[in-house]
Amino acid sequence: MTQLMALNNISVEINQQKILYDVSFTINLNQIITILGPNGAGKSTLIKVILGLISPTTGTIKRNSDLTIGYVPQSINLNPTLPITVERFMHLNKQLHYTDIIKTLSLVKAEYLIDRSMHQLSGGELQRVLLAQALAKRPKLLILDEPTQGVDINGQVLLYDLIMDAKTEFNCGVVMVSHDLHLVMAKTNEVICLNHHICCSGTPASVSNDPEFISLFGQHGASQIALYKHHHNHDFCQHHHNQHQKVILPDLRETQK
Ligand SMILES: Nc1ncnc2c1ncn2[C@@H]1O[C@H](COP(=O)(O)OP(=O)(O)OP(=O)(O)O)[C@@H](O)[C@H]1O
Ligand SMILES: [Mg+2]
Repeated sequence: MTQLMALNNISVEINQQKILYDVSFTINLNQIITILGPNGAGKSTLIKVILGLISPTTGTIKRNSDLTIGYVPQSINLNPTLPITVERFMHLNKQLHYTDIIKTLSLVKAEYLIDRSMHQLSGGELQRVLLAQALAKRPKLLILDEPTQGVDINGQVLLYDLIMDAKTEFNCGVVMVSHDLHLVMAKTNEVICLNHHICCSGTPASVSNDPEFISLFGQHGASQIALYKHHHNHDFCQHHHNQHQKVILPDLRETQK
């Protein structure tokens, strides 16, 4: 298994407050890590440490030297007085050709939005454009901090399908913060349950039986993890599978050389 990053005994202290401590795990290519935890647990802080936006107070991080990371943040602040189109927004991180922007937007079924104002997008459209911006770099590691905020249930199913398609297309690792346990657990390789430190981690099945997990999320949380197995055995999944025709991913390699 190819390792992309290793975090070793990370702690983050801000204003003498311990936000993270004793955090160690590795991120591998082609693996999906889902981070769970209550509000204020330090999930977004951990994501920013992974991204190198926050330096840990103690501990070490080993990153692959040429690691390209795509990031979908928990929220963005658009200046309400500054008009910006989707096309312009796609340029902010990386200068792209128009055809590349169209192709990247089409990965997330959003090419029809290219001339629209960022301010006028629906919740689901905005999240897909944010995903497209992260994919424009052809990442080897895709990081998503609660990517389905403000998205209805059909939009959530679509968004996770698009994330999985992107993982296949780019052969990347995925780290995501998500509360949509019933939608993500079937695809998750490792769950990290965070409350300032790693309370428990492992496969979805093992974590759902862990007393630490149950004390943090209760039986409801555990049953949500268990639910994905249920969905897999019933019509629900087939129904959604039929609804979501697999997106044919165009090959960006030619035009991005
Ligand atoms: N720059 C900062 N200065 C002071 N406190 C901070 C800072 N950044 C984060 N915190 C605090 O650290 C704690 C963890 O914040 P973080 O945003 O990482 O939580 P989270 O798990 O992502 O929560 P949520 O589920 O609400 O998104 C919170 O109590 C927050 O107020
Ligand atoms: Mg957060």
